[in-house]
Amino acid sequence: MRVSKWQAIEAGRQRSPKKWAILLLSCALGAATINLLSYYSLPSLFLGIGDCTAAPSSSGSGTPPIASPWDDARHDRNAGYWNDEFLGAIATMQSVFWNDTYWPTTIQWIGAFMDTLLAASDRSLLDALNCSGNVSDSVTTTLRASEIKKYFHEIEAYYGDEDVIQIFDAAYDDAQWVVLEWLEAIKFISQYGDYAQSSLGQADVARFAHRAHIFYNIVQDQFDTSLCDGGINWNPALATYKNAVTNELFLASSIAMYLFYPGDSLSDPYPSPAYTNATNTTLPDLPALDAHDPLLLQNAVAEYQWFTTHNFTNAQGLIVDGFHITDNQTTCDERNEMVYTYNQGVLLSGLRGLWDATGEKSYLDDGHAFISTTINATGWNDRSSPAAHQWAGLGRNGIMEDYCDAPANCSQDNQIFKGIYFHHLGLFCEPLPTSTPLVAGLTKLATAELEASHSNKCASYLPWIEHNAHAALATRNDSGIFGGWWGASYVNKTQEAWPTWAPPKPSGSIDLWNEPWVLRQPPWKCQGRHECSESGRGGGGMDSNGKRMASLFAHRRMARRDVNDQGLGRTVETQASGLGVVKAASDFASRDGRHLEASP
Ligand SMILES: *[C@@H]1O[C@H](CO)[C@@H](O)[C@H](O)[C@H]1NC(C)=O
Ligand SMILES: *[C@@H]1O[C@H](CO)[C@@H](O)[C@H](O)[C@H]1NC(C)=O
Ligand SMILES: *[C@@H]1O[C@H](CO)[C@@H](O)[C@H](O)[C@H]1NC(C)=O
Ligand SMILES: *[C@@H]1O[C@H](CO)[C@@H](O)[C@H](O)[C@H]1NC(C)=O
Ligand SMILES: *[C@@H]1O[C@H](CO)[C@@H](O)[C@H](O)[C@H]1NC(C)=O
Ligand SMILES: *[C@@H]1O[C@H](CO)[C@@H](O)[C@H](O)[C@H]1NC(C)=O
Ligand SMILES: *[C@@H]1O[C@H](CO)[C@@H](O)[C@H](O)[C@H]1NC(C)=O
Ligand SMILES: *[C@@H]1O[C@H](CO)[C@@H](O)[C@H](O)[C@H]1NC(C)=O
Ligand SMILES: *[C@@H]1O[C@H](CO)[C@@H](O)[C@H](O)[C@H]1NC(C)=O
Ligand SMILES: *[C@@H]1O[C@H](CO)[C@@H](O)[C@H](O)[C@H]1NC(C)=O
Ligand SMILES: *[C@@H]1O[C@H](CO)[C@@H](O)[C@H](O)[C@H]1NC(C)=O
Repeated sequence: MRVSKWQAIEAGRQRSPKKWAILLLSCALGAATINLLSYYSLPSLFLGIGDCTAAPSSSGSGTPPIASPWDDARHDRNAGYWNDEFLGAIATMQSVFWNDTYWPTTIQWIGAFMDTLLAASDRSLLDALNCSGNVSDSVTTTLRASEIKKYFHEIEAYYGDEDVIQIFDAAYDDAQWVVLEWLEAIKFISQYGDYAQSSLGQADVARFAHRAHIFYNIVQDQFDTSLCDGGINWNPALATYKNAVTNELFLASSIAMYLFYPGDSLSDPYPSPAYTNATNTTLPDLPALDAHDPLLLQNAVAEYQWFTTHNFTNAQGLIVDGFHITDNQTTCDERNEMVYTYNQGVLLSGLRGLWDATGEKSYLDDGHAFISTTINATGWNDRSSPAAHQWAGLGRNGIMEDYCDAPANCSQDNQIFKGIYFHHLGLFCEPLPTSTPLVAGLTKLATAELEASHSNKCASYLPWIEHNAHAALATRNDSGIFGGWWGASYVNKTQEAWPTWAPPKPSGSIDLWNEPWVLRQPPWKCQGRHECSESGRGGGGMDSNGKRMASLFAHRRMARRDVNDQGLGRTVETQASGLGVVKAASDFASRDGRHLEASP
């Protein structure tokens, strides 16, 4: 059996996994408490502080038995097992791919997401620590506490090395990953302060908030009703493409700004002091933006309203990649049917945030429906092995896959997609505050009922998450690095390329993330229509920064083709995707009492 670096450290200190599991048992409601406290700046949400020793609000034994005959039923792992695997995955990611300030082998937007995942991981570790901190295992406590601080210092280091100049002038999706990144870090700082009455990170809040503000400002006024009645364009250097991810991000980033951003009145508009020299561009002052500015909520509501009324879902209910506008039209009339895993995920955290802000139950209902569609699209609910074996839209054998996974020809971008899915699923399923929010006339009773129903549904996703996490763990090589095709072991395959297992792509689809050269052709190529400009956001002239960035962007994408031809293999991105699903298994299992005594 492989022993991860983390497990080795732990074994050396003779920590018993069982003990850890018991600690987590007493922890179940603590997670809800922490979630509550993460709304530090919404005073109306400061009610109903829970207690680590209370029972979880879900029954804890309500997870239905697994009936799928093809499933190998490895659902008996306890929360301690998953917590160890989670810690191992993050420790490996940082020891192998982190260079003290940066993940040098990744690219900017993915780095922003990975930093988000690191902050979210630190929040999960803190949940567990808070609930175990007073049990007499002081070695474990000290170790956990130092890991939490170590990862937080890495987040601080990344702040300094993030290539903000490059990402500032990239596309409208890129900017929003940065917004979510620094808001997640602020959530951690707030949660840690509540836990330890510590000043850790307090001095960072203002600069993190300022960066979130600068990057949100890029998209804030980009919801454009002159084409397709609304929505945000993906990339101003290309012909208009209103795509799922940019718009899901606008929902997620707007509502996260509304809930978690503490306000910022610095008018310095530059992402870095070196910006003007590097780009020969000056910028107007940044307008002040208050915490909980109603504009932020309005943006989120308008975005989701637009998204749901412009059919982004295929016949199966899966979210497709986006819409072009044909010549001389102004409506989104040309749909790209390509389906990716991350597009099923990013809106989930947005829907959760809309519920937190409004108390409208329909947002949660929609989220659960999207999750159910995705789970079904992996074949999880098929009732026979041969049926589950077939491509089901986004996987097979109950395991999530992107189209490029089996043939091993995913781009770097696509390799991170599954990790993004599980991160946003996790945010959606954080326990609802039990006696809040006092919005939209919700009674306490109604909120408590909704919390029970939400947490029961979330608990019902656990077996599927565990199934995927086991599959992901099975792809690791002897250094503990995750591979990309999680489904491989279920069809007795390795992490080599298996082109004969590549599912045919949906008809009417163009796989832009893995075939970047399509961006140089219609319908993406900018032909001066609809105000697109090959110089991108930077404006007209040859020397403009936008031009430079547009070509850099194109070059970066073109450069990747060669790498793809050889297959990228195990990378920091496949590692982070593996971390994403194993972290989800750990988070969900620790909220679910069923697991705690089950495993040896
Ligand atoms: C830590 O756990 C205690 C006991 O349950 C709880 O009162 C407290 O709010 C928790 N702290 C945080 C930051 O969640
Ligand atoms: C880490 O990598 C980044 C990007 O390649 C580089 O700028 C930085 O100097 C490296 N840091 C260290 C400590 O090697
Ligand atoms: C553990 O002790 C600390 C400090 O005494 C306290 O703040 C915290 O709430 C306690 N946690 C639990 C779970 O009792
Ligand atoms: C920008 O360039 C000018 C002229 O070369 C130099 O004086 C200044 O220090 C530079 N500013 C920064 C922030 O690098
Ligand atoms: C910067 O922009 C100014 C004004 O457009 C132009 O005169 C100058 O040549 C540019 N400098 C560089 C280094 O591109
Ligand atoms: C959305 O489009 C799909 C695929 O064309 C279609 O099956 C579905 O009925 C449409 N949904 C709505 C609400 O129009
Ligand atoms: C769009 O309009 C232009 C100018 O009226 C015309 O030349 C062109 O043929 C039209 N394109 C299509 C596809 O109808
Ligand atoms: C997923 O499959 C289950 C079991 O067949 C079914 O009850 C559920 O309605 C499906 N979900 C969606 C969104 O279609
Ligand atoms: C595991 O994969 C990584 C990334 O490809 C590689 O660097 C490492 O050497 C591999 N380890 C083993 C034992 O093959
Ligand atoms: C994989 O191998 C196992 C053991 O040899 C066998 O039982 C199983 O049927 C194989 N599965 C597939 C999909 O070939
Ligand atoms: C990946 O490989 C499969 C199988 O050979 C092929 O159908 C697909 O077009 C390839 N995708 C890319 C992006 O090259």
